[in-house]
Amino acid sequence: MRPSTPMSPHGTLLQGIATPLPASVVRGLVPAQVVAGRYRVERWLGAGGSSTVYEVTDLHRNERVALKLLAVPHAEPHLVTRFLQEVQYVRALEHVNILRVFDAGSDGERHFLTMELLEGSDLRQVLAERRPTWAEALRWLTHAAVALEHAHGRGVLHRDVKPANLFVTRIGVLKLMDFGLAKSMHVAGTTAQGAVLGTPEYMAPEQVMGTPAVSPATDLYALGVVAYQMFTGQLPFRHEQPVPLMFLQVQQAPVPPRTLCPDLPEPFERVVLKLLEKRPEDRYPDAAALRTALAKLWPYAFKAPA
Ligand SMILES: Nc1ncnc2c1ncn2[C@@H]1O[C@H](COP(=O)(O)OP(=O)(O)O)[C@@H](O)[C@H]1O
Ligand SMILES: [Mg+2]
Repeated sequence: MRPSTPMSPHGTLLQGIATPLPASVVRGLVPAQVVAGRYRVERWLGAGGSSTVYEVTDLHRNERVALKLLAVPHAEPHLVTRFLQEVQYVRALEHVNILRVFDAGSDGERHFLTMELLEGSDLRQVLAERRPTWAEALRWLTHAAVALEHAHGRGVLHRDVKPANLFVTRIGVLKLMDFGLAKSMHVAGTTAQGAVLGTPEYMAPEQVMGTPAVSPATDLYALGVVAYQMFTGQLPFRHEQPVPLMFLQVQQAPVPPRTLCPDLPEPFERVVLKLLEKRPEDRYPDAAALRTALAKLWPYAFKAPA
C-alpha cells in the first residue's frame, strides 16, 4: 500500500514553510542503520509535513516501534521545540483511539520520537484507493469524535485533523495521531504571531482568519471536511493555491453532499453540513454532541448499499 502520493500538493504549513521540503534538506534513514545506539531501521512507513516515520527495532527491548524523525537537520530551535511538544501533549492522553507516543530523543542533530507501531494504513491512503461504505465512515468518524472528546476534555486541541493523521488499523480501529501542531487550551499564544498553522484543505475559517480563537469547534470543522470526503469522494473546497483555498473555507458555502451523492441519507448530510458551519458556534457544541449525533445515524447506515 505504501508509498502513496499525497492527495494534495500542499503539506502542512509549518510556521509559513510550505511542504514538501526540497530533497536537499531531507535527510533520510536507511535500512539497518542504528539511531541513537538503540533503534535499528527496518523500513519507511510514511512522511508528513516535516518528518518521516520508520518502522524500527528497539534493540534494548527487542520490539518493533515506530520512529518519527524531524526531517530538518540543524533545525531552528522553534521547530525542534514544536516537534518535541508532541510528546508532552500525547503523554497526557491515553485512549484506544489515540496513537501512543513513548519517548523523545536525539542522535546528534537529529531529533526523533518513538511511538506505538500501527499496522494498517492512514485514511489518506484508504481514500486514495476506495470510497468507504457508510457504515465504515460512520465508525471511523465516531472513533475520531471520541478521540477528540478525550483530547479536548484534557485541554488539548489537535489543530491538524485530516486523513493523513487518522490511521485505520488492520482490524478497523481508527487512531488519531500527529499532535505535532497541538495546542493547550489553557496556554495562550504558543504560535508566533501571524503564523498560519494547519493544512489549507482542512482549515476552519477561524484558523484562517485568526479570529475567533481556535477551539474544539476548529477540530470539528476539520473532521467535517474528512466526513464530506468520505461520503462524497471529494473535498468541499479545492484550489491549486493555498491562499485562495483558505479564502474558500471562509467565504464559500459547500455544495451539499446530496447534490453529489443523491443516495446519501439526509441525516448524514445534515451532520456534515453542521460540522462545516462557518461560525464555530453554529457547529456542535463539543465532540460529545457530535458523537451523539453520529450514533443516531446508525439506523440509516445499512439502508442501501453505499
Ligand atoms: N505509529 C505509526 N505506525 C505506522 N505508521 C505511521 C505511524 N506514525 C505515522 N505513520 C505514517 O507516517 C505518516 C506521517 O506521520 P505523522 O505523525 O503524521 O508525521 P508528520 O508530523 O510529519 O505529518 C502518517 O500519515 C502515517 O502514514
Ligand atoms: Mg501528519
